[in-house]
Amino acid sequence: MRVLETIQQMRSSCEAARQGEKRLGFVPTMGALHEGHLSLVRAAKARCQVVAASIFVNPTQFGPNEDFSKYPRSFERDQKLLEKEGVELLFAPSVEEMYPEGAVTFVTVEGLSERLCGKSRPGHFRGVTTVVSKLFHITQPDLAFFGQKDAAQVAIIRRMVLDLNLGVEIVVCPIVREADGLAMSSRNAYLSQQQRRSALVLSRSLAQVKKLFEQGERCAGKLGAAGRQVFSEEPSVRLDYFQIVNPETLEPVESISAPALVAVAAFVGGTRLIDNIVLAN
Ligand code: PAJ
Repeated sequence: MRVLETIQQMRSSCEAARQGEKRLGFVPTMGALHEGHLSLVRAAKARCQVVAASIFVNPTQFGPNEDFSKYPRSFERDQKLLEKEGVELLFAPSVEEMYPEGAVTFVTVEGLSERLCGKSRPGHFRGVTTVVSKLFHITQPDLAFFGQKDAAQVAIIRRMVLDLNLGVEIVVCPIVREADGLAMSSRNAYLSQQQRRSALVLSRSLAQVKKLFEQGERCAGKLGAAGRQVFSEEPSVRLDYFQIVNPETLEPVESISAPALVAVAAFVGGTRLIDNIVLAN
């Protein structure tokens, strides 16, 4: 595996890797890798002849009072994991490399970026779409792999690729969970043992909604209320939102006739966690 720190090196390495009609797969990450990230790499390996990954903790997607400076960083460990999975190219630029001094150009997917996490994290998705479009321009992958864990991110990136004719196929991989149901996240590392137990309320609330749905309930209002009710039994966790939306537009639905995204975000202590399920008839 080659580690590239400059845009120029990454650009030319990707160009060379694509020679001979080889399909290039790309897995963007912020590092602190876990099985969720590695599942994306494995999916990329299964579908592409060459796989590139990136590790870049992107400052523009963090709010001023968020965890950019304390975000877990474990570059050497991550590097070994990616090497073991057979990643050929790893892009690991500095902030200065990615954002030239004076940078004022952003990519915004309007409307969608203000929904779900975008509402409580203003500017977050603008940072995501800006960095992902930069990474796509540098890497020019045929396919790029994202996790369903960040369902709104997927909807927004799909929209961006369509609107800007980026010509990258977006592949979405299922949420990887711990044995007890907690969705894997780099931020789980912030949780104490007690908080780790409380955090199960997210997946529990989704399981409750799924159960009612399977019993025939189709009213989003009732399903949402049942999900929120589960949170009231765990007062140490502060619910940010519990919403049932159209998975493409992220707009609330009233009754579930097509696939619906049930998305939740909550603070466990100072740690903000997200999870979701898709309900389909
Ligand atoms: P990060 O949080 O590191 O996640 C990188 C990719 O891993 C994302 O596509 C995310 O959805 C996926 N992922 C995380 N946890 C997962 C899980 N439990 N199961 C399946 N996939 C999971 O998302 C980002 O970084 C950034 O916003 C990024 C796209 C890299 C832009 O900076």
